[in-house]
Amino acid sequence: MKRLRVAIDGPAGAGKSTIARRVAEALGLLYVDTGAMYRAITWTALQEGVDPSDAPALAGLANRVHLELRPEGEGARVWINGRDVTPFLRDPRVTRAVSAVAGVPAIRMRMTELQREWARRGGVVMDGRDIGTAVMPEAEVKVFLTASLAERAKRRVEELRRQGHACDPDQVERELAERDRADTARDVSPLVRAPDARLIDTTGRDVDSVVREILTLCRPFLRGEGE
Ligand code: DC
Repeated sequence: MKRLRVAIDGPAGAGKSTIARRVAEALGLLYVDTGAMYRAITWTALQEGVDPSDAPALAGLANRVHLELRPEGEGARVWINGRDVTPFLRDPRVTRAVSAVAGVPAIRMRMTELQREWARRGGVVMDGRDIGTAVMPEAEVKVFLTASLAERAKRRVEELRRQGHACDPDQVERELAERDRADTARDVSPLVRAPDARLIDTTGRDVDSVVREILTLCRPFLRGEGE
């Protein structure tokens, strides 16, 4: 069984989930999308009428809900209290509120605990903002993916349109910049590159070449693991 742990961090729209999923698939590892966990909690808060800026109420919610990540196919689905909430995670209302929710220390503590359980088992590719710095600093391979703001906004617009959400490109770019700012400026586990993470700028690069670059980084650690 493979024990390799791959941490992929970076700002919104840098290509993390597409690339992390492809790397996991190529190596037969589990893909854990930690952004989906923060989105699931945010969606639940909105459903229950909890204000995303009400930290004590969010802390209560984090301790009350049962969040499960169920691997399926190439990814995983997120269940909250026995309900599959995966279809709601990309809702623009969730995207707008998620940074505030992810900045609440009690929420981060709970999510980090769950993510470390996956990390302990090994054999994972995990993507997020604090994976290489806080969740699994001991990961064998760490990558920090970036791309220009304009390129990331363009990708987000295409993704939203594919999913049938109408959107204004200027607003998407503004919201992305605001989310970067909030994710980078927060006190607990901010978005920051781990000193030992490989920096990869995906601007103008195709997915295949980035996946190949990461697989090359993984190769030395797979010797003796059945590769
Ligand atoms: O990757 P994403 O867009 O689905 O992430 C949604 C939000 O969750 C993002 O704005 C920041 C937060 N997040 C986080 O704080 N830590 C993580 N490990 C993953 C996501």
